[in-house]
Amino acid sequence: MSESLLDRVPVIPVVVIENLDHAVPVAKALVAGGLPVIELTLRTPVALDAIERIAAEVPDILLGAGTIVTPGQAKQALDAGAQFLVSPGSTPTLTAAMRDTGLPHLPGAATVSEVLTLLEAGYTELKFFPAEASGGANFLKSIHSPVPAARFCPTGGITAASASSYLALPNVGCVGGSWITPADVLAREDWDAVEAAAQHVHENT
Ligand code: 3PG
Repeated sequence: MSESLLDRVPVIPVVVIENLDHAVPVAKALVAGGLPVIELTLRTPVALDAIERIAAEVPDILLGAGTIVTPGQAKQALDAGAQFLVSPGSTPTLTAAMRDTGLPHLPGAATVSEVLTLLEAGYTELKFFPAEASGGANFLKSIHSPVPAARFCPTGGITAASASSYLALPNVGCVGGSWITPADVLAREDWDAVEAAAQHVHENT
């Protein structure tokens, strides 16, 4: 994958799968809605199995693993079939483990010093997390002038309504969020609603 992770789609759906049987229908609904990308978070016991199933059954989706918080999870996600990795924060061992997979990855940062540390390590594309709680679009707007080399995918508390204020910034490539696949919609297995939310993003961002 040569293209930047930040420039593939304007919105990366961040998905928490509680029920393994939901993995494939959710991925298919996102593809059907015109948003062929998923960041499946490693926050539930079935997450790695969910990645495996999507990798096997929905080959036309760009499949990422999110919430990588330990070095071991980076390799597990690679082995399950993930095509990119996202971490909410970063440590030297975590970024080394993600780099060792050879996969594109977005390490997380929430402060200027964390951003500078990652720039020193060679990263120019970062996740900004938790975006809303860490200053939101105003934070990113404020650091563009002093730290122009860093570009971001902000996530955390972003909604359909607030996404555009982030996407208008020169140092934002895309945003991530769970609003396209909320827990209640997944619980009632409303795949049409997931497809409609994906289509709304596709047509309006
Ligand atoms: C993430 O891991 O990127 C966030 O948990 C997504 O945040 P949200 O659920 O507030 O959209």
